[in-house]
Amino acid sequence: EQIEKGGYDHFMLKEIYEQPKAITDTYRGRMLADEGIIRMSGVDDNLQKFLNADRIIIIACGTSWHAGLVGEYLFEDMARIPVEVEYASEFRYRNPIITSKDVVIAISQSGETADTLAAIKLAKSKGAFVFGVCNVVGSSIARETHAGAYTHAGPEIGVASTKAFTTQITVLSLIALKLGEEKGTLSKNVFHTYLQRMQLIPGKVEELLKIDKKVQEIARVYKDATNCLYLGRGFNFPVALEGALKLKEISYIHAEGYPAAEMKHGPIALIDENMPIFVIATNKGHYEKVVSNIQEIKARSGKIIAIVTEGDTEVKKIADHVIEIPETEEALTPLLTTIPLQLLSYHIAVFLEKDVDQPRNLAKAVTVE
Ligand code: G6P
Repeated sequence: EQIEKGGYDHFMLKEIYEQPKAITDTYRGRMLADEGIIRMSGVDDNLQKFLNADRIIIIACGTSWHAGLVGEYLFEDMARIPVEVEYASEFRYRNPIITSKDVVIAISQSGETADTLAAIKLAKSKGAFVFGVCNVVGSSIARETHAGAYTHAGPEIGVASTKAFTTQITVLSLIALKLGEEKGTLSKNVFHTYLQRMQLIPGKVEELLKIDKKVQEIARVYKDATNCLYLGRGFNFPVALEGALKLKEISYIHAEGYPAAEMKHGPIALIDENMPIFVIATNKGHYEKVVSNIQEIKARSGKIIAIVTEGDTEVKKIADHVIEIPETEEALTPLLTTIPLQLLSYHIAVFLEKDVDQPRNLAKAVTVE
């Protein structure tokens, strides 16, 4: 097992560090940035189904559901297709309205999650076209779907999902970009810019991993917290949910993710000097509005750990800690903002001496409902 961990203390840390390669492997051969081409056989072979879809329904569980939420923002923004994101377990039991004009995208790392598999069978029985985004090749979901795209993240052993999440977002970005280009909802220029920027993401993730020591120091400060709040807006709202889930899963600290503006409808009542609040405040993502959310937290003595874009000056003045991410297009920032939150959960769990790779009560694949 030590050999499999490749010199890392845990699989989770190894998998966090594998992300530059995993993301590259995900778009390799599919995205030709210089030529301005995205080709994905599962999408190309069914292009008319995607382009004529009345809506896209994304079904998933856990971390994959969070990737699906990022997908909602991507598809709506780039391809102007209405999207609904559903927990597979709810979807399958509520007599959902599905027609043959719907495209269903099922996301699953393992390809074996029972609820997701059952939701796929239901959607197929109603005549929908079902596309799978799986990591495990030949898995049940990969076989049950009409077509699909593998994430090519490589085996993920740590129960808390890391590289599966970022590679799922990469696949969804490629599909959204492709559809946006085909539909003409993205101009050629913007499409090309995205491709160039996507190609720079693995290098930027690599750069971000170098701040691991700094994140570890922040983790040391907050390791004894009993409640944490994660806030983000737009593309980074799902990242806030995922950040909170990562902390819960491996450190057993209670954490909630929230859209930053919803804070005033509840979570703000929880804020006091003992409450660490992780806020994603990238420069193009409703920045001024997030800054005012941060000021509201500060006024209530909450501790602010902000994830900002390199060169930020405003948030730096008010936050207790800042973590900088390299500049990119806002739609691609989830691939970067996620990284420090993964590292943070990891280090807190290690400080608390928890079983990082096999947290209590959790399973890597939930094959029963
Ligand atoms: C379990 C795992 C999570 C995962 C979820 C969905 O809860 O512990 O990490 O996100 O199942 O799994 P899937 O394989 O369908 O993505």
